[in-house]
Amino acid sequence: MQVYENIQEFKNQIKSIKQANLSIGFVPTMGYLHEGHLSLVEAAKNENDIVIMSIFVNPLQFGPNEDYSTYPRDFGRDKELAEEAGVDLIFAPQPEEMYPRTPSIQFTVSERVNVLCGRKREGHFDGVAAVLTKLFHLAEPDRAYFGLKDAQQVAVVDGLIKDFNFPIQLSPVETVREEDGLAKSSRNVKLTSEERREAPEIYAALKYGKDMFLSGIGAEDVERMISERLRERTSGTVDYVEIYEYPFLKAPDQSSEKIIIAAALQYSNARLIDNVIFSTGVREGDSTCLEQ
Ligand code: PAJ
Repeated sequence: MQVYENIQEFKNQIKSIKQANLSIGFVPTMGYLHEGHLSLVEAAKNENDIVIMSIFVNPLQFGPNEDYSTYPRDFGRDKELAEEAGVDLIFAPQPEEMYPRTPSIQFTVSERVNVLCGRKREGHFDGVAAVLTKLFHLAEPDRAYFGLKDAQQVAVVDGLIKDFNFPIQLSPVETVREEDGLAKSSRNVKLTSEERREAPEIYAALKYGKDMFLSGIGAEDVERMISERLRERTSGTVDYVEIYEYPFLKAPDQSSEKIIIAAALQYSNARLIDNVIFSTGVREGDSTCLEQ
């Protein structure tokens, strides 16, 4: 496995991969790898000749009061896990390499962002769009792999790729969970033992909400029922519980084919998010999450 920190050297290597006509699967991450990230690698390995992972904690997507400086980092461990998982090449630039100066052009993501995490994390998806634009240009992948745990991110990247004609296929991957249902996340290490014990309730409450929604209860009532359940059964603060059509993140109606119910729970040192995405059965044979 090769590791590149330097943009020019990375680009030279990409050039020779392209000249050899090998396909590239790309897995962008911020490191502190867990099985969620590695499931993206596995999907990428199945469909491409070469798997490239980026490891970069992107300062542009963290707000001033967010956890950029305390975001967990362990590059040595990440390298071992990536190599074991079959990553061929890691791109891990320092912030100064990626952003030698403040970029003179900023992104404004205008749709799919005034809901869920985007509403609270102002500018977050602008920073995600900026770093991915750069990474996509550098890695020149055929396919890019993103986890549905961050379903709003998948929806925004879908917009980025389509609106700006990146010749890249977006491949969403199912959320990987702990045995008790908690979605794997780099931030789970920041939970106290009590918080960790009760955190699986987030997914349980979302599944309960899905059953309620499919039984015909209206979206607002279901949102309220899930919030109440989370308040009763956890010590976290409910940041949001919201239901939308997926991937456009608009209010659902009778014709909605795909629904997302998503929640964010703020704990003492970590904010956890999770979601369930499901078909309403309005259209038969509905299986991928991004068809339009
Ligand atoms: P990060 O949080 O490191 O996540 C990298 C990728 O792993 C994302 O696509 C995320 O959805 C996926 N992932 C995280 N937990 C997962 C789980 N439990 N199951 C499946 N996939 C999971 O998301 C980012 O980094 C950044 O915003 C990035 C896209 C790298 C841009 O900076």
